[in-house]
Amino acid sequence: MDPVKRQYESYPYPARDPAEEARRLVEGSPSDPIEIDHFLFRGRRDWRKPFRALVAGGGTGDALVMMAQRLADAGCPAEITYLDLSEASRDIASARMEARGLSATYEIRSLLDAPAIAAERGAFDYIDCCGVLHHLPDPSAGFRALSDALAPGGGAGLMVYAPYGREGVYPMQDALRALLGEDEPSAQVALARQALAALPETNGFRRNPFVSDHEVSDAGLYDLLLHSRDRPYSVPELLAELEGAGLAAVSFLEPLRYDPAPHLPATPEFAERLKRLSTAERWALAERLAGNMRMHVVYAVKAGREGQAMATLSAEAVPRWNGPDPRALGRKVQAEGGFAISMAGLRHWVPIPKAAAPFLPALASERSFGEIAKAARMDWFAFASTFGPAFRALAGVNLLHCSKGLPR
Ligand SMILES: C[S@@+](CC[C@H](N)C(=O)[O-])C[C@H]1O[C@@H](n2cnc3c(N)ncnc32)[C@H](O)[C@@H]1O
Repeated sequence: MDPVKRQYESYPYPARDPAEEARRLVEGSPSDPIEIDHFLFRGRRDWRKPFRALVAGGGTGDALVMMAQRLADAGCPAEITYLDLSEASRDIASARMEARGLSATYEIRSLLDAPAIAAERGAFDYIDCCGVLHHLPDPSAGFRALSDALAPGGGAGLMVYAPYGREGVYPMQDALRALLGEDEPSAQVALARQALAALPETNGFRRNPFVSDHEVSDAGLYDLLLHSRDRPYSVPELLAELEGAGLAAVSFLEPLRYDPAPHLPATPEFAERLKRLSTAERWALAERLAGNMRMHVVYAVKAGREGQAMATLSAEAVPRWNGPDPRALGRKVQAEGGFAISMAGLRHWVPIPKAAAPFLPALASERSFGEIAKAARMDWFAFASTFGPAFRALAGVNLLHCSKGLPR
């Protein structure tokens, strides 16, 4: 049996109990439908129309359940196909869906079959592929398969591992493979736990504060340290894979984390040097300077459409707030001209012009930006110039999206 299939038959990932569905919905990126709308459909998709989605390598069902539940709540006629190599994972994913009265089509196949499924039943408007491509024997073939299964106006939400935030993981995988490689999965997990407990304080994995999956569950430990096939992608490597598959990145998440400027001295000389870099070079620089990225979440579309996919501030756009009480945030911005937020272990200062503070409470209403401007008796251009920097800053930390048809 393929060692990757063997792993996920023994340790479906992430570890999930269908009984938990009665208590909580697991949410995250990629594939929150409001994010999908914001990053791939300009925040303007008509969700009364059918939506065909593929969850490629769906595992125990996090993205499947989140998407299906949110789209059912919004009354969207969604057709979702789940695909995975692992029957044990599929069983957990389908039990979670059943616990919520939701349905999907389930396929035990390789994601390389995605184009064949699309040819049989129609191309996909959206493809989720989270934590899978870096486990394929030929990841480039996987990127191409997903691209070939995508409708021309569709998009994908992908997650792949990144190298610098996973420092110490790969030497540790090599060390454990040399010691335990041939043993049964459960024996490997037990011995790996003992080996980890004895690591010297100089060990790179032990010193890395960004990886903790091994502490959460046995499935997490196996996935992180005992995987038979796992390679990380730097920003340039990931962009090259996308390009090779006819895709292009719209945005990484969270967008602010891929801006190198906050990691450099705020001097004219550095500003001038940054200006000379392309968007892709700036993303790559941010990854190298920050050093904390252990994965990349990226929304991508067919090459050539990347400039037209993401929502921008417009009078028709309807804001969807994704954070704590925006009134409290408005008061903070009014007093301090911004706020601090921690992402992946790093504290970021998010500057927001004080003049934009009075508009923050309205972001949790159902009103479009045009209606918000009207209520403030401002013409659109005055509103857009006052609120524009706040829009970019809040979208940059994933607190603000646009979607007309999907409630938060
Ligand atoms: C790390 S898990 C991620 C699961 C899920 N996407 C998530 O983010 O929670 C990787 C999943 O990809 C599946 N997988 C690996 N290679 C695959 C392939 N070639 N085709 C389909 N699924 C695959 C595994 O069986 C496993 O369920």
